[in-house]
Amino acid sequence: MKILPATEENIRNAAELIRKGKLIAFPTETVYGLGANGLDPIAAASIFAAKARPAFNPLILHVTGAEMMAQICSQIPESVLKLMSRFSPGPVTYVLPKSESVPDIVTSGNPTVGVRIPAHPVALRLIELAGVPVAAPSANKFNKLSPTDAKHVAKQLHGEVDMILDGGMTTIGVESTIVTERMGKIVILRHGGVPKEEIEEFLGYTVSENTDSARPDSPGQLKYHYAPAIRIAFRDETDFNRINFSRAAALRFGKTGESDDKDFRLVRNLSVTGDLREASSNLFRFLHELENEDLEMIVADKIEPAGLGKAIMDRLTKAVNYYKLPADQK
Ligand code: TXA
Ligand code: MG
Repeated sequence: MKILPATEENIRNAAELIRKGKLIAFPTETVYGLGANGLDPIAAASIFAAKARPAFNPLILHVTGAEMMAQICSQIPESVLKLMSRFSPGPVTYVLPKSESVPDIVTSGNPTVGVRIPAHPVALRLIELAGVPVAAPSANKFNKLSPTDAKHVAKQLHGEVDMILDGGMTTIGVESTIVTERMGKIVILRHGGVPKEEIEEFLGYTVSENTDSARPDSPGQLKYHYAPAIRIAFRDETDFNRINFSRAAALRFGKTGESDDKDFRLVRNLSVTGDLREASSNLFRFLHELENEDLEMIVADKIEPAGLGKAIMDRLTKAVNYYKLPADQK
């Protein structure tokens, strides 16, 4: 496994590997993806194996534009075309009726396929040179932290991937917003890089959500996910008398100077000014950093679930939920 800078030559080699059925990690504007030829069922199977991802959780396909999208979708509804005109390329994934060319393993047997046009020059060039839709989940092990940097990919998937293209830190830092269409209306299946409010403002109506983890329409929307290797809990659910401060970190958001900041061994603030874009780009980065420290616990502030705050709270809540699971279910 090599980490290589995302030069034209290296992207060309990565595209060649994809055409040969190999696995490549590459940067997108949201998180790093673990890519393979999305039309090759054996290559897709190796993604599931590398991530230890359950077969019921479908992959999304990355394309360069509407033309490639038409190869893998049997139909693109009007409401989706409208949304695409504003948000694609970008951090939105559309769940659409699939065409026959998409292998069942990619969609976990579903009649729909998730499709995204990433807004990242390396990702776009890679797909263009590969000449096929690129299946790519986030380049992490199942249930672990998503990667926003090439070295995060190496930490988890060392030995499982044939090449890592290094394009530096991703800018958005949380995964794409997943949407679908029902009865002519857009429905959100996962909160992500484009906030619900922005979609609603553009469409002019209230968008409903189906992000319920009890009956997920998007099978990856489990109750727990994205867990750092160190226990994480919300501040307001933590008994401060039982914290071993010398081995605990605070993950904060907004104003500085909480009176107990000095007690924690480490303090990271997602955004001192309360800027949600800054906070989302720092979220996985800080969790990866803290995971590398000799700590027992991370105590996280809750963030108001509005705008990008929804996507951030979704990830934090799932990480916290993971540590509420009984030991034999982790
Ligand atoms: O930003 C992103 O979306 C990143 C980058 C690499 O593009 N990718 C990503 O992929 O987050 P992944 O596999 O980690 O999450 C994709 C989610 C999964 O939760 C999956 O269940 C859902 O998309 N999904 C994929 N295909 C679907 C389908 N046909 N119907 C419903 N949900 C689907
Ligand atoms: Mg993921």
